[in-house]
Amino acid sequence: MNNGENAVPLLAARDLAKTHGRTQALRGASAELRAGEILAVTGASGSGKSTLLHCLAGIVRPDAGSVTYGGERLDRLPEKRLSGLRRGDFGVVFQFGQLIPELTALDNVALPLMLAGSSRGDAQARAGEWLERFGVRGQAGLRPGEMSGGQAQRTSLARALVTGPKVVFADEPTGALDSLASEQVMTALVHTARDSGTAVLLVTHDAQVAAYADREVRLSDGAVVPTGVTA
Ligand SMILES: Nc1ncnc2c1ncn2[C@@H]1O[C@H](COP(=O)(O)OP(=O)(O)OP(=O)(O)O)[C@@H](O)[C@H]1O
Ligand SMILES: [Mg+2]
Repeated sequence: MNNGENAVPLLAARDLAKTHGRTQALRGASAELRAGEILAVTGASGSGKSTLLHCLAGIVRPDAGSVTYGGERLDRLPEKRLSGLRRGDFGVVFQFGQLIPELTALDNVALPLMLAGSSRGDAQARAGEWLERFGVRGQAGLRPGEMSGGQAQRTSLARALVTGPKVVFADEPTGALDSLASEQVMTALVHTARDSGTAVLLVTHDAQVAAYADREVRLSDGAVVPTGVTA
């Protein structure tokens, strides 16, 4: 039933369970992301935040439960279609970087555009604009091993956003930043998301970062405890 809100979520996880070895990372987690919404996922270390993000982004398949994207069962898609969809519609910022070590910041950000068919020159020009937005234009020529943690995180955000995805998954995108830099990065992320209608799933342990979101869900021991509106 549509009770006045945008009732159909863009992305929905229902009753997810996921076990890593003997650790039950998710036990009945459910969460929804609406189109254009910024949702913060918070919770203690080890509560299952990254696992939930990976399941929603189609990177990890849950053991039980469902992940639905635009009405389609993501958790049941064959790997080939799943990776095509991820490349086209999703941008991911991993908790521990995953920039390509051999490439400069500029080429790391240009790569998704080149994979989508842009020429190297066009891709690099757009990549430069995105580095600028996140305040790391001056580091365009550095390789990940030559960057600070915060510079690498900003570069990862630029890479996740450069293709204009429908959903951005950001796992602790400000984890290596001080509070001023966090504010700058969050402002850039939120403006970009609002301008382009991009939905953002933002994992963070920082209440000041979570406050940028429209809504917050808190994970505890692998399940979601709703905490209501934050902004
Ligand atoms: N690949 C893995 N192999 C074994 N255990 C794992 C693996 N990934 C996660 N876990 C375990 O699953 C649980 C949830 O991990 P997850 O990374 O989802 O937590 P998190 O909330 O993101 O924590 P943090 O805030 O520290 O990043 C933890 O107990 C963790 O040790
Ligand atoms: Mg994590």
